[in-house]
Amino acid sequence: METPRHTDVTIPPPPNLRLDDPASHPGIAIQGVSKSFGPKQVLDECDLLVNKGETLVIIGRSGEGKSVLLKNLVRLLEPDAGEIWVQGQEIVGMAEPELMELRKKFGFLFQGAALFDSMTICENVGLMLKEHTDWPDERIMERACECLSLVGLIDANDKLPSELSGGMKKRAGLARAIVMQPEYILYDEPTTGLDPITSDAINDLILKLQRELGVTSIVVTHDMPSAFKVGDRIAMLSKGRIVFTGSVEEVQQTDHPLVRQFIEGRAEGPLGVF
Ligand SMILES: Nc1ncnc2c1ncn2[C@@H]1O[C@H](COP(=O)(O)OP(=O)(O)OP(=O)(O)O)[C@@H](O)[C@H]1O
Ligand SMILES: [Mg+2]
Repeated sequence: METPRHTDVTIPPPPNLRLDDPASHPGIAIQGVSKSFGPKQVLDECDLLVNKGETLVIIGRSGEGKSVLLKNLVRLLEPDAGEIWVQGQEIVGMAEPELMELRKKFGFLFQGAALFDSMTICENVGLMLKEHTDWPDERIMERACECLSLVGLIDANDKLPSELSGGMKKRAGLARAIVMQPEYILYDEPTTGLDPITSDAINDLILKLQRELGVTSIVVTHDMPSAFKVGDRIAMLSKGRIVFTGSVEEVQQTDHPLVRQFIEGRAEGPLGVF
C-alpha cells in the first residue's frame, strides 16, 4: 500500500517561521538531513521540528537510523546534507570552537551508556565538569553525587562500570547526561533492558527534568508505554524520513499503516519483518 511521505496531524508550524531567529523558533529544527554509510542511505532528507520545552519521542524499527539521527544532531556524526538549527544557530556549518560551546547545552544518554571502564561511576559522571569547568574536585564530586542520587545510584559511586548491571549503567549514563544542567537532553533508548519498575522511575525522571528544569528532549525508544508516558509528541522514522508526527492521542488513534503496525507490534504489514 502507498503510504504518505509525511503525515503531521499536529498544528503545522507558522508560515512566518524563521529558523535563524531564536524568538521565532527556539527549539531544534532538522531540515533535509541525509546521511549514508558507503552505499547505504540511512537518513534521506529527513525533516523534524522539536519545540522548545517539549519532549519529542522518536519511534521506528531497529536499524532505521534513530541513533544516527541523534548523533547527527550534535555532529558526533557529520551529515552529508541538510541543515540543523538549534536556538537560531545552524550547526552543520559551525566551526569546532562554537560547536563545543553549543554541545555543552546538550546532555546525551547513549544507547550503550558509553561509560569509561577504567573510571569509577562518580568520575564518569563528573568528567564533563572536570573538562569544562574550573571547579575544585570536591565540588565536582558533590555535583556528581547529586546526579547519582537523582537516578537512585548513590551507593554505586565508587564502583567501576564492569561491576554494574545493564540497568545501573543506563542510570549512570543518565546521571552523566544531566551533570552540566543541559537545556536539551537526547535520550537513546533510556528504558530498554530495564525492569518495568526501574523503567517507570526513568520515565518519571524524564518528566521531572522537563517540568522542573524546562529541558527540551528527544527520546528514542521502542518502549511504547514509555513513549506514551513521556512524549508530548511522537514522530516515527521509516526509510530515512519522519513519516508521521502527532500527539500521543493522535498516534493512538491514527490509521497510518506504518504507525499502526509498529505500535501494535505486528510482523505482518507494510514495514515487513526484516
Ligand atoms: N558509524 C557507522 N558506520 C557505518 N554504519 C553505521 C554506523 N552507525 C550506524 N550505521 C548503520 O546505520 C543504520 C542505522 O543505525 P542506527 O544505529 O541509527 O539504528 P537504530 O534505528 O538506532 O536501531 P536500534 O533501534 O537497533 O538502536 C544501520 O544499518 C547501521 O548499521
Ligand atoms: Mg539505536
